[in-house]
Amino acid sequence: MASENGVVYDELAVELAALVAGEPDLIANTANMAALLYHRLPELNWAGFYFARDDELVLGPFQGKPACVRIPWGKGVCGTAAQRGTAIVVPDVEAFPGHIACDPSSQSELVVPLISAQRVVGVLDLDSPRRGRFDEEDRQGCERLVSILVRHADWR
Ligand code: SME
Repeated sequence: MASENGVVYDELAVELAALVAGEPDLIANTANMAALLYHRLPELNWAGFYFARDDELVLGPFQGKPACVRIPWGKGVCGTAAQRGTAIVVPDVEAFPGHIACDPSSQSELVVPLISAQRVVGVLDLDSPRRGRFDEEDRQGCERLVSILVRHADWR
């Protein structure tokens, strides 16, 4: 049986698909997805995107406090997830070497790469003020949501 969290991701998948249906604009779709996640997932203090630009990640649409604009490829949780091309759940940001603290109130983090045509085009980043906020179900749920987004955005 799906947990309560699993049900949330089922609902979010339906809502996200409706938000992006027929809309190829990358900024519009990532802005709406950031707002959807920030307002629907409990205990978040930041939800947003970084886009791959040359050898770094550059801040995209988000909800939360102003954040670091540029993250070198391979640095921080975001740059590491982008380099690996796999999602990273960080239960305690202080225990992640090289974590970039945009907001000192962030205690845990989930980063999911956006992969289009076998290329990492950006990352989704979720931050929480609670240690251990994100688990395997969140990782799988967010990977599913990201795949809906990637299918609907124009990455040129
Ligand atoms: N903590 C991230 C930086 C981005 S902010 O959390 C919004 C990292 O270590 O990559």
